Amino acid sequence: MTTDALRADLLAAIDSATTLEALEALRVTALGKSGSVTLFMKSLGGMDAEARLLIAPVFQALREAVATAIEAKKTALEAAALAARLASEQIDLSLPAAQSPRGSVHPISQVMDELSEIFADLGFAVAEGPEIEDDWHNFTALNIPPEHPARAMHDTFYVRREDGEGERMVLRTHTSPVQIRTMMGQKPPIRIIAPGRVYRSDSDATHTPMFHQIEGMVIDRGIHLGHLKWTLETFLKAFFERDDIQLRLRPSYFPFTEPSVEVDVGYSIVNGSRVIGGADGWMEVLGSGMVHPRVIANCGLDPAEWQGFAFGTGVDRLAMLKYGMDDLRAFFDADFRWQRHYGFSALDVPTLSGGVGA
Ligand code: PHE
Repeated sequence: MTTDALRADLLAAIDSATTLEALEALRVTALGKSGSVTLFMKSLGGMDAEARLLIAPVFQALREAVATAIEAKKTALEAAALAARLASEQIDLSLPAAQSPRGSVHPISQVMDELSEIFADLGFAVAEGPEIEDDWHNFTALNIPPEHPARAMHDTFYVRREDGEGERMVLRTHTSPVQIRTMMGQKPPIRIIAPGRVYRSDSDATHTPMFHQIEGMVIDRGIHLGHLKWTLETFLKAFFERDDIQLRLRPSYFPFTEPSVEVDVGYSIVNGSRVIGGADGWMEVLGSGMVHPRVIANCGLDPAEWQGFAFGTGVDRLAMLKYGMDDLRAFFDADFRWQRHYGFSALDVPTLSGGVGA
């Protein structure tokens, strides 16, 4: 084949290549080690000097032309590939959200967000602590020394330590150890809530081994039961979105509060089912009290100067009461149909101005 014919063939083939792979294959057939153009170049070695002087520029021009054509085609194909990718990855921002794949926010997450919103509005920060807790924070510092009967009430999960030394670890049985961690970690005045998972070895229709609590605590000067009552009333009204919420405070006992107060909320019977509000009957919703002076002292604060109140309640139970679910276990079954029915839209962000459960 003449160089002209080869050149015409190759340029035509390059021009009609539609993919980068096809183009690369062409490059190898032409310019590769035993490619057609390379063979021409190699044949120069067998020529005498005069002929070579004459022919070499022709071959070099051929190689040059083919290489340039391949390079140009490559750039064009790459640009086309990028344009196609950009077109396919485009997001249509005007697409209605209802058409996108649907997931839902679990009622517990939703209620946690509602609670954080309500308490943020009252000036409470969110505090956290570990779920694997040491015995001291979960019990002793909260005025529950070893052998205290309250320990038996907690059905604790114990965690074996690999090193077999040091303090015994437990899965925290309540969110109250966050009271201790917060008082030891920052200076009063303190206003915090601590939502999170807690664990007890208990399982039936109304108990699951893991459940959720939210703790609240205020430490300041001159804090008294009136502050506690106002805070709980304000919180429960905002949470249940009703002004006719009635509270009943009953004397109770927790080792870490003195006095201790159990709080019932009134319900009325509407069409045969319980609805929060009114006072046809009472349901216990939370435990609370004034933080025990010994607990304050355990955290290195002077109880003569600092007082406070604390409360704790079950988030799962609050969710059930507010959204009318009756089996606690369904919360953790991950049943898609249940989640679709009770779940919340991701766009349903709780805000006080919009109504927390809007
Ligand atoms: N920690 C208690 C419980 O789990 C609740 C509580 C918290 C009571 C704070 C009083 C004060 O039952």
